[in-house]
This record gives sequence, structure tokens and C-alpha cells, in this order.
Amino acid sequence: MAKILIKNIKGLFQAGENIPKYKKGEQMDNGDIIENAFLAIEDDQIIAYGKMEDWGGINDWRDLEVVDAEGKFVLPTFCDSHTHAVFAATREEEFEDRIKGLSYEEIALKGGGILNSAGRLQEMDEDTLFKEALERIHGLAEYGTGAIEIKSGYGLSVEGELKMLRVIKRLKAASPMAIKATFLGAHAFPNEYKENHNGYMDLMINEMLPKIAEEGLADYIDCFCERNYFTVEQMTRLLKEGAKYNLIPKVHVNQFSIMGGIKAAVDHGALSVDHLEELNEADIKSLKGSHTMPTFLPGCSFFLSIPYGKARQVLCADLPLALASDFNPGSSPSGNMQLLTSIACAKMNMTPIETLNATTLNTAYAMGISETHGSITVGKKANIMITHQISSLARIPYSFGENNIETVILNGKVFHSNLKEHEN
Ligand code: NIG
Ligand code: FE
Repeated sequence: MAKILIKNIKGLFQAGENIPKYKKGEQMDNGDIIENAFLAIEDDQIIAYGKMEDWGGINDWRDLEVVDAEGKFVLPTFCDSHTHAVFAATREEEFEDRIKGLSYEEIALKGGGILNSAGRLQEMDEDTLFKEALERIHGLAEYGTGAIEIKSGYGLSVEGELKMLRVIKRLKAASPMAIKATFLGAHAFPNEYKENHNGYMDLMINEMLPKIAEEGLADYIDCFCERNYFTVEQMTRLLKEGAKYNLIPKVHVNQFSIMGGIKAAVDHGALSVDHLEELNEADIKSLKGSHTMPTFLPGCSFFLSIPYGKARQVLCADLPLALASDFNPGSSPSGNMQLLTSIACAKMNMTPIETLNATTLNTAYAMGISETHGSITVGKKANIMITHQISSLARIPYSFGENNIETVILNGKVFHSNLKEHEN
């Protein structure tokens, strides 16, 4: 039985037995921090935590690793509830085109963007895709990501979508990270169906969905509901079909335009609505009283130079809010969750604690893993991260671009540590 005891922790973030499923409004500025704390792990679970003065000492030293975390903070690992982390190639050439003046939408209309990635994915075999994606997500774990949702959506054909989802299934088996798979066949209309949108809708509904369900390849269903992509009617039709296979919606809405996608998604029981760079009062009203997590993707706003989500407006309405990376080769080529907290503080006026709640507890909810992840609670998975010696938790967003995480423990085992490098 492997055991880890972390003692003398400067601050244990998000720790408690009564932490809500998600935090909203004013609650989001509460970090539930225990100062001068200990945390005990056995096998893959958190078994105890509390103040050092209440610590009972060690009775049994067998298989016990003791970690002294003096001057360091301990947090649940980040949960990244929105990514496109399986892809075949990066897209620097589009980045340069945008610098020269083209917009993301203009590049897409010229056949770049998602269709560019779909073409590259078609050329890559499943094994290579898997190997590269595993390396990629494990690179993110070194920055503290312990759980990740990954979407298909660069396949856009029966074979391509199945290939992506099979890769995600293999990632689930190969990685200690918690992984959820989302079917995003409705990411863009492939060229063959440019003039026949109904034909592609039929293909997804009649060919893709039954096969995905048969192989148990997806946990959620997504749709890019946006001008030039999928209409609210098309999304609604797809979500209804997905529901027949118990696929819960997590959708892309309101990135460039407000079309009523939020209300439609909420009405179909969406777990999250993501992007929301554009948001109006009617959207806020639709979210009130729902179980849907509004999720902002500030990496995308930063990289595409589009508006940032109005976080304060959402929090003032006493709603919850989550922050995810949207890691993908087109609109957000970074999955560094620490950097996201920096962007959200600097550009969306969120407090450091709000951003840490929004990237741990609230994203755990937004990817359906609240029971096991997102907080330091007895019985939850021991997915935790230890910072370097830092003055305060605000240091994480403050020192943007820096890796403030020293050690990452996934399922009770040290996954990554740069303790020695840092102290030498
Ligand atoms: O969330 N907006 C739609 N999908 C992705 C971008 C995908 C891409 O450009 O490859 C997003 O931003
Ligand atoms: Fe996305």
C-alpha cells in the first residue's frame, strides 16, 4: 500500500468536506484554504488532511513517503474541460497570415482552419496520432493538468472521427490523467458536403453516432454553433439524436456571434456552454437556474485577438464560471492552465482565487468528474500539485508564463517533480 504524507503545507487550497459541486458568484473568491496543513494519501485516494496542529503523527512508516512542503502550496490539479488535444499538425502559417491582417474567419473561408487540420489528420495513422497526443497531454501534466476533456472534430468523416475517438479511448487507458471524450463531428462541414449540409447531418446521425455508441467511444457531444458553421436548428437536431445514445451536450457557442445557441443548449441539458466571447442579457437569463456551466476560453481570445468573455457580468449575476484552455492548433496552441489564470486576471478582471476555482472545481463539474476530482476531499482521487516556495497563491497568475508547479501527483503517484532541478 503506497502512502504519501505531505506536511508543513503553507496553504492547502480547495480543502473541505462541504465544498459545493461548483462555486458561483461571490463564492468564487473563497479558496477554502487551510493554512499550515498536512495531507495524507493512500494508494490513489486522499485519506486525511487538516491543520498541522491536529495531525496525529506517524504510527506506521511502512511504504510511507514523507514530503516537507514548507513554504509551498498544495492544490487539486487543474481540470481542463475543453481541449482539442488530438491533432496531426500545428498551424504556424495561419498565425503568420493573421499577423499580416487576415482574420480567423477569413482563413477558414479560404479552406484553412479546421479543414486544414482535418486534411492533416487524415494523412496520419492512428498509432502516430496516439503517440504524439500522449506526449502532448503528459507535457501539460507537468504544468499541473490532471484531468482533460478531449474532442474529436478533425476527422469530419466516419473513419476520421472514429480514428480520433479511438485515440482518445487509448489515451484513457494509457494515462493516469482523468480523460473524457467528446464527439465533435459537427465542427465544420467538410468540403464534400459544402453544398449538401443535410447530407453531412445525415452522415453524423445515421453513420457516426451509432458506431460511436456501439464502441462506447464518447462521453459527450459537441457542436460548433456559429455563423458559417452550424445553425441553432442543426445543433438542436444533433443534440436530440445524441440524447438517444445518452450523450450529454458540451457545446461551442457565442464565439463570434449571438444566435440563441446558449438557450438551445441549456434546454437540451448541456453540461457546459463554451467560448461566450459574445454574451447578452438574454443569454445570462437562460443560464440562470440551469445546470449548465458557462465556460470561457481566454487562450482563444488572447491568441485570436477577439473579445474576452465578460467574467464580471457572469459572476455579478450569481452564476458560476469555468476557465478551460481550448488547446488546439488553430485558436489556442497552449494548454498551460497557469497561463490561463494569468490571462483571466489581467484581461477579464478576475481575482487569482476566482481563476483557481474556475480551473479546478468548476472545470471538474464541466467535465462531469466532480465526484472524484476538483477538490481536496476525503475519498477523492489523489490528483494534487505542489507549488514551488512562493509568497502567495496569487503568484501563480502573477508570474505569467512561468511554471510555478514543482510536483504533480496523479492517482497517488508522483507523476512529475522538478524538485531537485529547482533547488540546485
Ligand atoms: O474552440 N471554434 C471552434 N473550434 C476551435 C478551433 C479549432 C481550430 O481552429 O482548429 C475552438 O476555438
Ligand atoms: Fe474549442
